[in-house]
Amino acid sequence: MSIILAIESSCDDTSASIIKNGEVLSNIVCGQDVHRSYGGVVPELASRQHLSNIVPTVEMALKQSNIAYSDLDAVAFTRGPGLLGSLIVGLCFAKGIALSQNIPLIEVDHMRAHILAHFAEDPKPKFPFLCLTVSGGHTQIVKVNDIFDFELLGQTIDDAAGEAFDKTGKILGLDYPAGPIIDKLAKEGTPNYDFTTPKVDGFNFSFSGLKTAIMYFLKAEMKKDPEFIQKNMKDICASVQKKIVDILLSTLERAAIEHDIEHLAIAGGVSANSELRMRFQVMTNEKNWNSYIPRFEYCTDNAAMVGIAAYYKFLNQDFTNHDVTPSAKVNWN
Ligand code: KG4
Ligand code: ZN
Repeated sequence: MSIILAIESSCDDTSASIIKNGEVLSNIVCGQDVHRSYGGVVPELASRQHLSNIVPTVEMALKQSNIAYSDLDAVAFTRGPGLLGSLIVGLCFAKGIALSQNIPLIEVDHMRAHILAHFAEDPKPKFPFLCLTVSGGHTQIVKVNDIFDFELLGQTIDDAAGEAFDKTGKILGLDYPAGPIIDKLAKEGTPNYDFTTPKVDGFNFSFSGLKTAIMYFLKAEMKKDPEFIQKNMKDICASVQKKIVDILLSTLERAAIEHDIEHLAIAGGVSANSELRMRFQVMTNEKNWNSYIPRFEYCTDNAAMVGIAAYYKFLNQDFTNHDVTPSAKVNWN
């Protein structure tokens, strides 16, 4: 029997979740509108907002689950990767709960948590599976051999897929985060424009060249017609989105064939993208592969995924010392 409070505060969402015996009882996510007009997350503002939001977010998660602080068996937090100031808020709060309730503390790696979000529901992926983890800060293909055995097969050498969406959105004059806005606009557009596909070794990715190619293309078109973006916004969005999804899925497909793996998953904020979800499903159906697509609420940052990862650590009695500090970078070894 285990009741775990999980806290996620790595970027701009404050989230708290209660996990009872591996089952999600609540998953509260409090976003931060303050970054909308800046074209990206402002770290200083993010940590301040976490400080304001963390108590009501945790209390809402407890209340929704009908759980009291005194019922908790452990408290989990995201140790990294992420923004240090934001991570510190969640970490210190978790330490406080661990001390006051005399319960163990469990650190969770954010990128592993995105992957383990798949274990919040049935059917759970079969091992080994490949997971394309695509978020605002990371783009990775990970071979998951077991619940605690991860192998990084490839990653971005510059920008992440989410950044490609967000930075393109900034060029187009869209609010942050632009990913969901581009997704919506692309639905009514046609992918009329093509951009060169970046060349990268192995199963790695590169998105910064794509962003530059889009910028030069728009500059050239705007010289001919200053209203080019306004007039063609939906088609531009559809073209950019198609290119990003092409790059992601073609690399994932190659990795699956080379490693002879038939169980494939997607995870992270960009896995909420409707074209990626649809084409991932089509690709895996055509190949007769098993596909795992997370529910929307488990794609973008959330504490339920942290709690699920913590649940497996709890079963192994894998606890964290109280002198723990946040870690901005992920370590796969
Ligand atoms: O996993 P996440 O919530 O936070 C990080 O760990 O980074 O991912 C956020 C990223 C942002 O770049 C956002 O634009 C992108 O996920 N995103 C999307 C969609 N929803 C969120 N990108 C494309 N289409 C979407 N529907
Ligand atoms: Zn994330």
